[in-house]
Amino acid sequence: MTTNSAKPVLVFDSGIGGLTVLREARVMMPERHFTYVADDAGFPYGGWEEGALKARIVALFDRLLAEHDPEVCIIACNTAFTLVGADLRATFPQMRFVGTVPAIKPAAERTRSGLVSVLATPGTVKRAYTRDLIQSFASQCHVRLVGSENLARMAEAYIRGESLSDDDVRAEIAQCFLEQDGRKTDIVVLACTHYPFMANLFRRLAPWPVDWLDPAEAIARQARRLVPALDGTALDGFATGEDIAIFTSGKPDFATRRLMQGFGLRV
Ligand code: DGL
Repeated sequence: MTTNSAKPVLVFDSGIGGLTVLREARVMMPERHFTYVADDAGFPYGGWEEGALKARIVALFDRLLAEHDPEVCIIACNTAFTLVGADLRATFPQMRFVGTVPAIKPAAERTRSGLVSVLATPGTVKRAYTRDLIQSFASQCHVRLVGSENLARMAEAYIRGESLSDDDVRAEIAQCFLEQDGRKTDIVVLACTHYPFMANLFRRLAPWPVDWLDPAEAIARQARRLVPALDGTALDGFATGEDIAIFTSGKPDFATRRLMQGFGLRV
């Protein structure tokens, strides 16, 4: 099916982690325009009290939907979606939301050792949603939840060009590696969209090789299923470089603006 509608696809995260999903979404939907929204005024989401964070995100979407009228919203944040996904769908029934949740089901299907770790924010490991995923899809596995206080911030620094010490990164991922009865963890789920930016570091510093599972491509594919392809007439009206990034603080720093430009986003 094709359409002439030219609404943007909105990609949302607390910070720059959603860019790991945006880059896959662009591959799947090259004819679409994107509006990237970072709630950097609320970053990091990992330590927020659940009720307050829920209220904040619903209120924010009330404004975003009115101002940007997107075709679909990709919530590129595990910490947000596992908490507020159901509320967003109930509050805005006219909008379609594509969520990001810890990739526990694919990890359980793929593991050979039966030892799987989920590396996430402290918020995501606390969620009932995450526990339910384990119970529903991974009850035959040993799933270790590792909530990191620091990694989202470290990923923000790293992607802006700051260097990180190997020891600091090693300390954050160490808990993911478990040896039990001659078996070893063989899959680590990257359950925070910031973390794939650090995957090369994780691979280098891991005590043994594992699969680092990044759900970005699966999320983008799901969004593509919901977003009708634009036909040639609508595409004629497009100039390149119209994707935009919005920061709720209203004042992203120089390194962040440069990063956004690198992603082809106008701040
Ligand atoms: N990128 C977010 C996620 O996927 C969380 C980062 C944060 O705000 O702590 O969970």
